[in-house]
Amino acid sequence: MSRALVVYESVFGDARAIALAIADGLSASLPADVVPAGQAPTEIGADVALVVVGGPNHALGMPKPATRVSAVRQYGADVPDPGVGLREWLEAVRVRSPGVPAAAFDTRSGGHPMLTRMDHAARTEQKALGKLGTKIVAPAEHFFVADTRGPLVDGEEARAREWGRTLAELVATAS
Ligand SMILES: Cc1cc2nc3c(=O)[nH]c(=O)nc-3n(C[C@H](O)[C@H](O)[C@H](O)COP(=O)(O)O)c2cc1C
Repeated sequence: MSRALVVYESVFGDARAIALAIADGLSASLPADVVPAGQAPTEIGADVALVVVGGPNHALGMPKPATRVSAVRQYGADVPDPGVGLREWLEAVRVRSPGVPAAAFDTRSGGHPMLTRMDHAARTEQKALGKLGTKIVAPAEHFFVADTRGPLVDGEEARAREWGRTLAELVATAS
């Protein structure tokens, strides 16, 4: 049976909450597995009908080892291995079925509109998904946290659920 695969990185739990809400939205028509990048499969199998990836914005981009270490030092985060995350998974994973639908999201703390425009975590995720041979089926979505350690801004989980429903419809109409 076809399934969606939602792979996330999350330092403080907000991107994880968004990933779970997206899966909830998908689940009416497409069951979804939600896995942290460090435990995600090394190959995206032919049974995967949709790949969704997402994580936080760190220093205007995707987290990398140095920004994960900053999260520990500056904000007291618990990061067991700063060398493991979504960026590293996207660099290593292989796709069995080229053209598999995909979409990307990020979480961010907002800030000045100029800064928000410069942030490009989800854009980098999309590029990596494209390089893997997946087909981006929806523009990247951005979800907002109230502060660095969260929580999510009110209504963001509901918005993620709705985005999940939309993604499932896009996949259904494309197949
Ligand atoms: C080291 C570090 C750098 C960050 N840089 C940015 C940034 O450039 N832009 C932004 O909007 N948020 C930034 N943030 C806030 C994160 O986006 C926020 O912590 C994250 O979205 C929360 O998601 P999580 O709970 O899944 O980790 C930064 C946070 C950390 C720890």
